[in-house]
Amino acid sequence: MNHFGAGLVYSEMVASRAIMEALKNTKVRKRLHFFDASIEPYLVSMQIVGNDPEIMADAARFSEQLGATCVDINMGCPVKKVVNIDCGAALMKDEALAAKILRAVVAAVRIPVTVKMRLGWDFQHINVIELAKMAENEGVCAVAVHGRTRSQFYEGTANWQIISEVKQSLKIPVIGNGDVKDIFGASELLKSCNAVMIGRGACGRPWLLRQVAAHLDNAQIPKQCNIQVLDTIHSHLALILETYGEDKGTRLARKHLDWYSKGYPGAAAFRSTVNSEVTASGMYALVDEFFSGLVAHES
Ligand SMILES: Cc1cc2nc3c(=O)[nH]c(=O)nc-3n(C[C@H](O)[C@H](O)[C@H](O)COP(=O)(O)O)c2cc1C
Repeated sequence: MNHFGAGLVYSEMVASRAIMEALKNTKVRKRLHFFDASIEPYLVSMQIVGNDPEIMADAARFSEQLGATCVDINMGCPVKKVVNIDCGAALMKDEALAAKILRAVVAAVRIPVTVKMRLGWDFQHINVIELAKMAENEGVCAVAVHGRTRSQFYEGTANWQIISEVKQSLKIPVIGNGDVKDIFGASELLKSCNAVMIGRGACGRPWLLRQVAAHLDNAQIPKQCNIQVLDTIHSHLALILETYGEDKGTRLARKHLDWYSKGYPGAAAFRSTVNSEVTASGMYALVDEFFSGLVAHES
């Protein structure tokens, strides 16, 4: 994995119960694909999700032992199967439980603890400022705010104004998140917070992170040529296949290839062939055929 100049990268969220299950059962452990801090030469935050303070504390301890730089508590996931079991964004509705989880996790580890939340459950219940202040009081080191409510999922526009109000209410750093798609969006959002988190904007364009970092440093923006795009896709594909195997890996790779090909001529046809490809060698061949054509066109 390459961090593309990001100051901090996060693991995808891992259920705290699954982490504890993995400690007892090697089969579960193999399925979870934890990162390996000994080979990841940059800052990795392990994000955990759950609703039981003790299990969350145990999962945080395990993350610390794995070598995570920080542990992040997920209070923003909007997905039904997560909120229906009182995890993720559902914790924003239960401030007392949220406080217990934060307290237990902060007490459990020496590494910094951060939390990621949304604006609230819905527009009638915007409580991000109260919750973020409570997190600060419980000893959390930074709060990331995705400027949408849970009810919005990913619809509408992220509200950067409320992110700015959170920043004004806290002493600890606030990481702003939502709808940053380019270098200008990043510097605009940075006026309202202390750091910027980028999600979908980097899908299929991971070099955006390096470009944003350069822009914020007033350095020259590195350009991405098609040959570098091809190299990036090759290493990404290799990692996916190595981690998940051919069957699951080829299925998982499809959405990434979809993102990588967006905006290029012939992308729709490329995507439809990729979507029915089930072998690793076939997938590499399709990638080479499509992107090498673009490289040749560029040179
Ligand atoms: C496919 C997908 C997976 C995501 N997984 C996580 C996750 O595991 N943990 C998390 O905190 N946020 C997750 N998010 C939310 C993003 O981190 C981010 O908060 C959201 O997409 C808004 O930021 P953006 O506009 O930069 O994408 C996910 C988003 C998408 C689209």
